[in-house]
Amino acid sequence: MRAADVIERKRNGGEHTPEELEEFVLGYVRDEVTDYQMAAWCMAVYFNGLSGAETFALTDAMIRSGDTLDVGGALGRKVVDKHSTGGVGDKTSIAVGPIVAACGVPLGKMSGRGLGHTGGTLDKLESIPGFRVELSTDEMIEQLRTVGMAIVGQSDRLVPADKKLYALRDVTATVDIQPLIASSIMSKKLAAGADAIVLDVKVGDGAFMKSLDEARSLAQEMIELGRRAGREVTCLLTDMDQPLGSAVGNALEIREALDTVRGEGPADFTELVLDASARLLAYSDLDIDLTEGRRRAEAAVADGSAVAMYDRWIRAQGGDPDPSALPEAPVRVSVPAPRDGVVGRIGALAVGVAALELGAGRRTKTDPIDHAVGILCFAKRGDSVLAGDDLAEIHARDEASAAAGVQAVLDAYTITDEPPPTHGILLDVLS
Ligand code: URA
Repeated sequence: MRAADVIERKRNGGEHTPEELEEFVLGYVRDEVTDYQMAAWCMAVYFNGLSGAETFALTDAMIRSGDTLDVGGALGRKVVDKHSTGGVGDKTSIAVGPIVAACGVPLGKMSGRGLGHTGGTLDKLESIPGFRVELSTDEMIEQLRTVGMAIVGQSDRLVPADKKLYALRDVTATVDIQPLIASSIMSKKLAAGADAIVLDVKVGDGAFMKSLDEARSLAQEMIELGRRAGREVTCLLTDMDQPLGSAVGNALEIREALDTVRGEGPADFTELVLDASARLLAYSDLDIDLTEGRRRAEAAVADGSAVAMYDRWIRAQGGDPDPSALPEAPVRVSVPAPRDGVVGRIGALAVGVAALELGAGRRTKTDPIDHAVGILCFAKRGDSVLAGDDLAEIHARDEASAAAGVQAVLDAYTITDEPPPTHGILLDVLS
């Protein structure tokens, strides 16, 4: 195989054979295909796409680039997993995990770091003093046995092709390409041994999929990849036209996830967490339906077993579960409503970028994260406000970055006279 021939075939709209894709992907992991050749191929895929058969072959090749896990075999249980396509203020797994585990279903999840303006679960968890994300696979399985849940960094041996490709796509404008997102997500879930998967496909301004049609098409592609691999997949299409919940920024999001596990979270985030938990429980080996899954998820929150699980899980990974141990930013400034009216829109992308500029995310791969900073969006779409009310609060390292944050968040809010059309967090469900 000559890499240039593979790139040329896709550039000209041709179709790859599974063998050619496998050689190309494995060659990339072995450094025989260079970054610039892989970037050129990704851009050719942006323009000419991949067929269903090619996307399946790509996913398969990515899985073959490393080890696979059999967590189900090790635990003797059916394994359920969840994944989000990435959004602003998305701390869903941190709240869903303890609820599902408190209901008796082990949840072991490999998570990633932030990508572009979207935050990563690992970065959020690392704002908890002492928390270790680098667990070996054996340690993760042992923790699943003894505690019932674990969220860890992706092992270098699991889908190394995705690790390398993900970092390359991030800096070559090739992230938002449907077959590359589908194969990236599904290769990780399939290699990690999930029998049933709940995917949260974010839709809107703060997501990679901007329209419902694009999100549906991505969801269908991932469901098809799951079907071909013999796994059950449900996709929740959820609103990312405003930040999820109120908190955006690492330690702030941990606090909000904990509030939600205690039953004191924001309405939109609570709804998503309970819905995703119910679906995971219905997929599990508990042999219950969705209604019973929802009832058990709500009961675990109400009777305190979910928060008790959160405590055990955080301690098991070396962290301090007390929210007062989380870092706090030295400067807090409120963002006042410029006039009376109704919140018509909050640009999720703009809020995500504002949080990144405060230091909550990375501009380059090696940037350190400031875990304390971020934004609390108190006013959400459809809320009535009076001039001077707190729309949001900026948590910053210094006065200058706080002032820039206030302006950015003010620009992200649109205050109107007419209430916007209302809809819930869940826009559609496909399976
Ligand atoms: N999440 C992933 O894991 N991969 C992508 O390509 C995009 C979001």
